[in-house]
Amino acid sequence: MVSLEQIRQRAVSILEADPKRLRHTQSVVAFALSLGAAHHADLDKVEAACWLHDVAKNRVPSPDDETFDADAWPEATHHARHAAIFARTELGITDPDILDAITYHTTGRPGMSLIEKIVFVADHIEPHRKGVPEKFRMLAHEQLDVVVWLILKRNIAYLEAHKRPVSRLTREAYDEYEYMGGNG
Ligand SMILES: [Fe+2]
Ligand SMILES: [Fe+2]
Repeated sequence: MVSLEQIRQRAVSILEADPKRLRHTQSVVAFALSLGAAHHADLDKVEAACWLHDVAKNRVPSPDDETFDADAWPEATHHARHAAIFARTELGITDPDILDAITYHTTGRPGMSLIEKIVFVADHIEPHRKGVPEKFRMLAHEQLDVVVWLILKRNIAYLEAHKRPVSRLTREAYDEYEYMGGNG
C-alpha cells in the first residue's frame, strides 16, 4: 500500500485545482484527527480516508455508474463511491476501514465503524462548514454517537425541505439510532 505521505501528495495534487475543496479537506483532516485522538481511533486510517474522501467530486461519471442502487446512492453521493474506487484502483488501498469511511462519508449507513463515524462527522461539521450548530462541534469529542445522530436527522430534514432525494442508507442509519434511543 502507498504511504500516508503519498496519499496526501496525491490528494493535494488533485484538490489544488479547487482551493475551496482543498481547504475543506485540510479542515476535515485536522478535525478528524482531533476526534480520532479523543476516541482512540487509528489515526493513520482516519487521515488517509479524509485526504481522499472528496477527490472524485469533479469526476465525469462512467457507464458503470448506472449500476448504482439509486435509492442508496442519489446523485449527490456518487462522488463518495467514486473516491473509494479511486483509492482502490489508483492507490492500491485495500483496507476496508479506509475504503468504507470514504464510501459512506456522505450518506452514513447502519452499523458504522468508529473510523466511518469520525470521517462522517468531520466532513459534516469541520469548522469551515457554514450553518453548523456550534453544539454539534462541542459535543463531538465527548459524544460521537449523539452527533452522528444529530447530523443524520439534520440531513434528512434539509433534503426533504429542499425536495431532494434522501439515501436509503441515511434513513436506515437514522432509524438505527432511533432504535438505540438517541435523543438530541
Ligand atoms: Fe463529500
Ligand atoms: Fe467533504
